[in-house]
Amino acid sequence: MIQRRDFLRVTAATAGLAFARKFSPLASAQSSIASIEILLDEPLGTVAPEIYSHFVENLSGVIYDGIWVGEKSKVPNVNGIRKELVDEMRKINPALVRFPGGCFADSHDWRDGVGPVDKRPRRTNFWAAGESPSAPAAHRYDPNRFGTNEFAQFCKLIGAGAYLAANLRSLPAEQFYQWVEYCNSPAGSTTLADERAAAGFKEPFNVQYWGVGNESWGCGGNFTAQEYAVEYRRFATWVPEYGSKLSFVASGPNENSWEWTRGFFEEVARKGKNQFRDIYGWALHHYAWNLSRGKTKDWEKGKGDALQFEPVDWYELLREGDTMESFITGHWQIMGEIDTDHHVKLVVDEWGPWYRPGSELTHGDQLEQLPTLRDAVFSGMTLDIFNRHPEKVGVACCAQLINCLNSLYLAHEDKFCVTPVGHVFAMYAAHQGGEGLRTVISSPEIHYDRDGKAASFWGLRGSASRHDKNLVLTAVNPDVSQPLEAQITIRGAKPKSAKAMVLTAPDIHAHNTFAQREAVAPKTASSEVRGSGLNFHFPAASVVKLEIELA
Ligand code: AHR
Repeated sequence: MIQRRDFLRVTAATAGLAFARKFSPLASAQSSIASIEILLDEPLGTVAPEIYSHFVENLSGVIYDGIWVGEKSKVPNVNGIRKELVDEMRKINPALVRFPGGCFADSHDWRDGVGPVDKRPRRTNFWAAGESPSAPAAHRYDPNRFGTNEFAQFCKLIGAGAYLAANLRSLPAEQFYQWVEYCNSPAGSTTLADERAAAGFKEPFNVQYWGVGNESWGCGGNFTAQEYAVEYRRFATWVPEYGSKLSFVASGPNENSWEWTRGFFEEVARKGKNQFRDIYGWALHHYAWNLSRGKTKDWEKGKGDALQFEPVDWYELLREGDTMESFITGHWQIMGEIDTDHHVKLVVDEWGPWYRPGSELTHGDQLEQLPTLRDAVFSGMTLDIFNRHPEKVGVACCAQLINCLNSLYLAHEDKFCVTPVGHVFAMYAAHQGGEGLRTVISSPEIHYDRDGKAASFWGLRGSASRHDKNLVLTAVNPDVSQPLEAQITIRGAKPKSAKAMVLTAPDIHAHNTFAQREAVAPKTASSEVRGSGLNFHFPAASVVKLEIELA
């Protein structure tokens, strides 16, 4: 049974009614009351625009079909890049895009993906073994048609910076330096700059962010933390800079692998604390995949379904995702014990839910899943967590942008749609570069049955930031059936006007498809300004953005 208690209930309803309505956020008429206080005189730091970054891996339908359709395609494109994707991405102000992996990165030779296109080699893709027999050849045997040049062009078209992930497992450090040289050396300065110019790119790409290996504890080389630290130092030392800043990201932990963080930081510090100057970020990965409610830790058996789920599965996914906050604070604490002035920032460059196969919109696309309203609430919750820790989180990349895991977009041939997750990114973009503000939220907890035992989950959470007189508050109401009336108080200024945007749907399973592109889409809502605050109705199962103009 799903119910909210412990706080003021505006209208009483029978438990049976709540149960009968459990699948429909719009069905319940009762509201609870919450309070939100935004403290203008308690700034937390600048919300890095790079928290709103993305990840595209050469994996199944992400690149070939998702991004790259080819210049001769009947699908509208800009130099081979899907135009509808470019148009949509321009609306969300993407800060960075990470490429080419993921696990793929540590098997990729960047030289294969540059130079004359008809001479580029075909290589077995890292993900080939998981491809279905009917998958397009390009998903198994990488044609290298979309390489560094095409990626740089994609970034330019969407107005994002590039974040390249270098191969540490199977290429020598020299290749890393030369990739940097190819991308960043000034026009006419080096042979590689000439090669870039011959491909049509005279001016340097000026790539700032470079990942040095990926998941080096696993697919990226199976190292110990100490072994990896030695490799990292070798790769990141004396890389030529060509006048533009380089920000290196070291391969950090999976979830709560505290020993990986401690082991790496201690090993780096053995050479002296000044070594931390060569590390911009420490990559943290967290996928919410285990929906077994504690029954198994098996990677396959623990996964849930993207579309078929009960309210208990909805809450389980959010519980799994909510652990992100403890991973951020936990790793940050260990990092600070060794890197005492916190030179190194967290880079959460892979996050999102990961379900079992079966919900792909394009049959056979490996790791594609159909995001629902549940994933929108999950994504809003996660972005709010990042916003609440601006001094710790420097970059975050949702995994992945298109046709894979927590996609913002789905595409196949000439078909395209924006997922509920894509809409959340459009709503939250207003936080980028704002001054994060401490926000205190009180709300009744949600209580529900978890395999015969009483379980609870928080009732409302969010984050706030401001650009001068423009305040942005985002929040999620995770309750599958109960709306919330919230009293919002702004400490330190008076609100002049407010506008609201709400993302919800009549069914918690709602999702967008090629045939029904607008089943889940944000809508404007009214919000009444009263004295030093305002009241707002947070529908059940919703993601909300309020933009408040201060007097
Ligand atoms: O995003 C899919 C995969 O998940 C990435 O390649 C890898 O880094 C992670 O394990």
